[in-house]
Amino acid sequence: MYKVALLPGDGIGPEIVPQAVRVLQAIGEKYKREFSFQTALIGGAAYDATGHPLPEETLAVCRNSDAILLGAVGGPKWDNLEPQLRPERGALLPLRKKLGLYANVRPASVNSALAEASPLKEELVSGLDILIIRELTGGLYFGQKHREDIPGGGQKAVETLEYTTEEVERVARLGFEMASKRNKKLMSVDKANVLESSRLWREVVEEVAKDYPDVELSHMYVDNCAMQLVRYPKQFDVMVTENMFGDILTDLASQLTGSIGMLPSASLGGEVALYEPIHGSAPDIAGKNLANPIATILSAAMMLRISFGLETEAAAIEQAVAKVLDQGYRTGDIMQPGKTKVGTVEVTDAIIKAL
Ligand code: NAI
Ligand code: MG
Repeated sequence: MYKVALLPGDGIGPEIVPQAVRVLQAIGEKYKREFSFQTALIGGAAYDATGHPLPEETLAVCRNSDAILLGAVGGPKWDNLEPQLRPERGALLPLRKKLGLYANVRPASVNSALAEASPLKEELVSGLDILIIRELTGGLYFGQKHREDIPGGGQKAVETLEYTTEEVERVARLGFEMASKRNKKLMSVDKANVLESSRLWREVVEEVAKDYPDVELSHMYVDNCAMQLVRYPKQFDVMVTENMFGDILTDLASQLTGSIGMLPSASLGGEVALYEPIHGSAPDIAGKNLANPIATILSAAMMLRISFGLETEAAAIEQAVAKVLDQGYRTGDIMQPGKTKVGTVEVTDAIIKAL
């Protein structure tokens, strides 16, 4: 029995998470696996019900599960709350930190049926399959913050970018592990020419590399990396980088594939792993059966593979998604001329049928 905590959240979250659950139930029937689901509140929905975006009870449900599937949080309704009560700052960041989830893993791969939807030329992205690992609990976003008035006018704001050997080592190790399971190539991205934290990063990555002699390690400066990702993305395989660089590069990479509605992610390293689509709560299309559930369904596939070791079942979901795209079914975000436009529920029906 695999215990899955469901955190639908806000906006399209309560529409897409149930679709992933339907797919997991279909997998359960087909491969004789038993999943149990427990739903908990997070984000704006939790704030409205309890006054806090990340209630203790939700944390307890997460800790008592084998994996967590999250929709998305946030929306204009909660934008004017104090920062620590806002869905993203008050729920997502603390959830990752409290569960010790220090690595965010985002594959960016292009289904051949969608290659022409990429903003890049089809031949540049067709067959693209990269994996970016972003450090998630250190760096600038968690450093000391400070603001002061400057005598005579204006203000000064300070953020600090801190990394320890241990923080770099554990995420680097995950990078090498993932690279050794794929094509044995790891690219570490930093800014070691100007940042001291990046110099430490590079030294530690070099140290960890000694434990993985079969993985070919290279380094790239983040500014060059941004350029290379657009110029010739297929040169990359597994990449590992610090928090803010990863935040920016993963959004960039997501667009190579055409749609934000297609890409899954996993946050790893702690007591229990968290799986979620990379997009937000899309309030502009919420409640209309318009959302693309595929990113969430593929997140569930990552969960089967990484948390439960169910490789066959994970691959079955990925193949079913590919088949449905080949059959021409499209939600609005990936619609192309001559294809069949369907809604959130209908594209899931097709995926379950393909299974
Ligand atoms: P967003 O990702 O929610 O939406 C960006 C655009 O992509 C919108 O036009 C939306 O309709 C579309 N889109 C996103 N997911 C889609 C899907 N599955 N199918 C079809 N179209 C899709 O980002 P945005 O608009 O910047 O943020 C909206 C809210 O979500 C904000 O409150 C933001 O704070 C929150 N957010 C939450 C995240 C999370 O929970 N992990 C991540 C990013 C934003
Ligand atoms: Mg981001």
